[in-house]
Amino acid sequence: MSDNTLASRLYPTRIDIPAQARVQIVVILNQTLAATLDLKTQTKQAHWNVKGTDFYQLHELFDEIAGELEEYVDMVAERITALGGYAVGTARAAASNSILPEYPFDILDGKEHVTALADRFAPYAKHLREAIDKTNELGDADTADLYTEISRTIDKRLWFLEAHLQVSEVKGENGAAGATKTQKTAAVK
Ligand SMILES: [Fe+2]
Repeated sequence: MSDNTLASRLYPTRIDIPAQARVQIVVILNQTLAATLDLKTQTKQAHWNVKGTDFYQLHELFDEIAGELEEYVDMVAERITALGGYAVGTARAAASNSILPEYPFDILDGKEHVTALADRFAPYAKHLREAIDKTNELGDADTADLYTEISRTIDKRLWFLEAHLQVSEVKGENGAAGATKTQKTAAVK
């Protein structure tokens, strides 16, 4: 059976949300489950392999974030089953269904790992925000509330990650961000 068929499978349930809505909600939730599992393992990858003078604080931070993601994996999977759906949550399914790119294996220092994670937390945060609206529109305020909770934490974690990068970006030490600042300065003049 394909992952797509599994992701939309529904069991009989007495819950009052119509099956037509539930099938769409569990498909969205299974996308989130895949992305959350993927992001959790990528964050662990950073936790294990980060090097450099900021090693210890980043090693700890990445573990804290991975722990939060692990909790969300369980919450998302159990919301799927509460709606009568089938949670598609193996590592192989997550790898093939995740919206996120694979983690780079050739990076070393703290800044590279923080950048790689920020580049993945941002699209994950976007997916969550879209899911808040979609599940609300489908009449499931409880799933929208779950998404809102996860979304708020992920935005905070994106801030934590980006706070490591913003000094050099604001000061123009990075190519792209530096150009942006120069353009802004030119526009003010
Ligand atoms: Fe560890």
